[in-house]
Amino acid sequence: MRVHGTPYRTVWMEGGAVHLIDQNRLPFAFAVETCAGHRATAEAIRHMTVRGAPAIGAAAAFALAQAYAEAALERDPDTYLREARARIEGTRPTARDLFHGVERVWAAAAGARDPAAAAVEAAQALADESVEACRRIGAHGAALVGDGARVLTHCNAGWLATVDYGTALAPVYAAVGSGKRVHVWVDETRPRAQGARLTAWELGAAGVPHAVIADNAAAYLMSRGEVDLVIVGADRVAANGDVVNKVGTLAKAVCAREFGVPFYVAVPPSTFDASVPDGPGIPIEERSEDEVHYQTGPDDEGTVRRVRVTAPGSAARNPAFDVTPARFVTGYVTECGVFAPGALPESCFSGWGTAGEGTGNRGQGTAFPAPGAAA
Ligand code: MRU
Repeated sequence: MRVHGTPYRTVWMEGGAVHLIDQNRLPFAFAVETCAGHRATAEAIRHMTVRGAPAIGAAAAFALAQAYAEAALERDPDTYLREARARIEGTRPTARDLFHGVERVWAAAAGARDPAAAAVEAAQALADESVEACRRIGAHGAALVGDGARVLTHCNAGWLATVDYGTALAPVYAAVGSGKRVHVWVDETRPRAQGARLTAWELGAAGVPHAVIADNAAAYLMSRGEVDLVIVGADRVAANGDVVNKVGTLAKAVCAREFGVPFYVAVPPSTFDASVPDGPGIPIEERSEDEVHYQTGPDDEGTVRRVRVTAPGSAARNPAFDVTPARFVTGYVTECGVFAPGALPESCFSGWGTAGEGTGNRGQGTAFPAPGAAA
């Protein structure tokens, strides 16, 4: 994606350093953070300088590649690497992509003649394949977004949440790119406001018409027939198709079912987890109460301030994700097509790589109508 005319990925590795677009500073400032070693990259994941499942996965893969380079200078490289892996895996528990990225680099380096070089190569390949998977999600999903469609999305599952293109927003960008008129309702996504801050910024930069809505407004808009389809991303999809995504996704799915609005989940291969039978088996990250108590943004003079928005002395609870049962999902938008619950090909769970690269059965998907098509 382009920022002020310059093409960017969300995360990349160059000269041994990992570079990340600082998502905590957006939309009020655009800055790139440079992480010289794996500890700094792991901290960037923990502090959500980089966030969104596929972006976290690439950052984790790069972090482990950095650790392999560092380990070569250590007296006990094996212990160093084991500790580095645990440090990276301990940053955020929910997104499957993080573990996928680490496992893939670990496997590539194990037994390689030059483990450090193999690790970097594997991490770069993962990032490239992640970009291609998201591009394909966009190409398949664009058919669901009709001319004039009003799409509702939750959190940020745009290009900032991935290495490039996005998952939930990839079909929107592809549809707009093919000349369709699309309007996006952007859920604010409290408490961290990934929708209000990141999705709105992305769509604005891409010239896509949109409006931010309070999370509580979505049901009302659906009840009035002002939403043609919902598309969200995922942090992990269990073997039975249950979807773990940003807290608030479940409420959208239930409302969408009630009001007859199609509910799609856009998922790259790195997010599927066949080892967990169903959603309740997926670990849900609980984050600091302070994210509920405080909001951060510029005042009228442009000074960024943190202000309290809850009653002093009140406790808060902050689960970062929720579980949407597969029965609420109309279809999964994948790199190999759009599939109804129960029809996901096994290759979604077992393969990695883009279609045509020998990763097994890549079906054509179920033909879904474009719900937002103007009459
Ligand atoms: O806590 P975050 O901001 O990392 O959560 C992100 C989400 O929940 C996204 O919807 C999900 O990772 C899909 S991103 C393509």
